[in-house]
Amino acid sequence: MSEGEMVAGPYIWHVKDEEPIETKRDVQRRWQGPYFMNKTAANHLEAWDSFEFWFSLPKGGAFAHSDSYCEMTISAQLKGNKTWRMMMYPESQTVFDSFDSFDRGIYQVNKWSPEYEFKVGPGQCVIFPPGYMHETYNKPAENNECTVASTFQYNLPFPVKYIRAYLPRLFSSHLVWAEDCHSRWEAFHSFVGGRTVPTVDVPELTGRVDAIFGAIDADKNGHLERAELIEYFSKAPQADFAREVQYSWTYKVSAQQRQEVATELVESRVDDTVGYNDVDGDGRISHEELFDATQQWNVLNYRYWSLRRLNVRDPGSVKAAMDLERRFDEKYRCAEGDYTCLGDNYFNMVKAQVRSLQQISVYNRDPDAAPQHDPWGGSHEPSGDRDDGRDDGDEEDGHDDL
Ligand SMILES: [Fe+2]
Repeated sequence: MSEGEMVAGPYIWHVKDEEPIETKRDVQRRWQGPYFMNKTAANHLEAWDSFEFWFSLPKGGAFAHSDSYCEMTISAQLKGNKTWRMMMYPESQTVFDSFDSFDRGIYQVNKWSPEYEFKVGPGQCVIFPPGYMHETYNKPAENNECTVASTFQYNLPFPVKYIRAYLPRLFSSHLVWAEDCHSRWEAFHSFVGGRTVPTVDVPELTGRVDAIFGAIDADKNGHLERAELIEYFSKAPQADFAREVQYSWTYKVSAQQRQEVATELVESRVDDTVGYNDVDGDGRISHEELFDATQQWNVLNYRYWSLRRLNVRDPGSVKAAMDLERRFDEKYRCAEGDYTCLGDNYFNMVKAQVRSLQQISVYNRDPDAAPQHDPWGGSHEPSGDRDDGRDDGDEEDGHDDL
């Protein structure tokens, strides 16, 4: 956007986690969220605990990147004019197409193709979902001094239709590989708080969906309706997770506020669960809709964990990853009329270019990233402590063959 001119990086005042608590409290007393964040305690408290300030000079900006937040983000412009360019996180055909989602990584793989460009001035906000790619610039013709913006997150409603629509590509992104955001998405189809074991076995998946209908579909009409979901999420012991207030600010607020948030969470959980599954838009979830969501999740999660468990230091892992991606392509992509199979040309190209999984972006993660719970057991982390370095879907591990 700078048309070749040097771009000055912004200064970010990390009030939320890099200042003494007295400073944070002092700023929190003065910071006012936008009026539409005050309707729900959950959003008001999240905004109040997550805001930061961005200061940037004319000719300053940020290169294209995607944030690491799992939540929705708002950037409120307080002073000056900032130009934004944005695009959806690009599709990856296989793990070999993954790229660095931060600083300029998307330029290097030639995938930066912004869908929007717009200017945000004082008093205006830009709102974007997790994973969305963005680039900013303070055009010198529109700014003669430092610009100021405040950025914060919010929780409700959850962007479920966006997550569902783009689940395959999000499963190839840092949101899953590094940030573990998918642990917050799983319950939209599983209806329980813990991790489920990934499987691609259709009778097993049907059994899981049947069990959910058995527990929730009280009138046995083959649809999960709002009243049944409210009953389940507000009372069922296995839905405890939906009533738990687990945020960075949980113990900084009063018991009354926590209760208020718990009530909002149940209401939002019902709407979000319907929104995630209800593809035909009739306001309820059919058995078929829940099966589709369950199968989609399991295929993606099965593939993800099979790839994640590979030993990056073992050269044989490249072939194991290619074999897995090829099976995935043949079984799930080629079978769908909307897609074209990747075919031999693609995999021959990968074979010629990739010698080690260490070349692949998602395998080079921040060592400080939170460890993820391996649904097949063990505290395995993908730095490569598996002996054989490959997942061959054997029965010992309880895997199905993809
Ligand atoms: Fe950002």
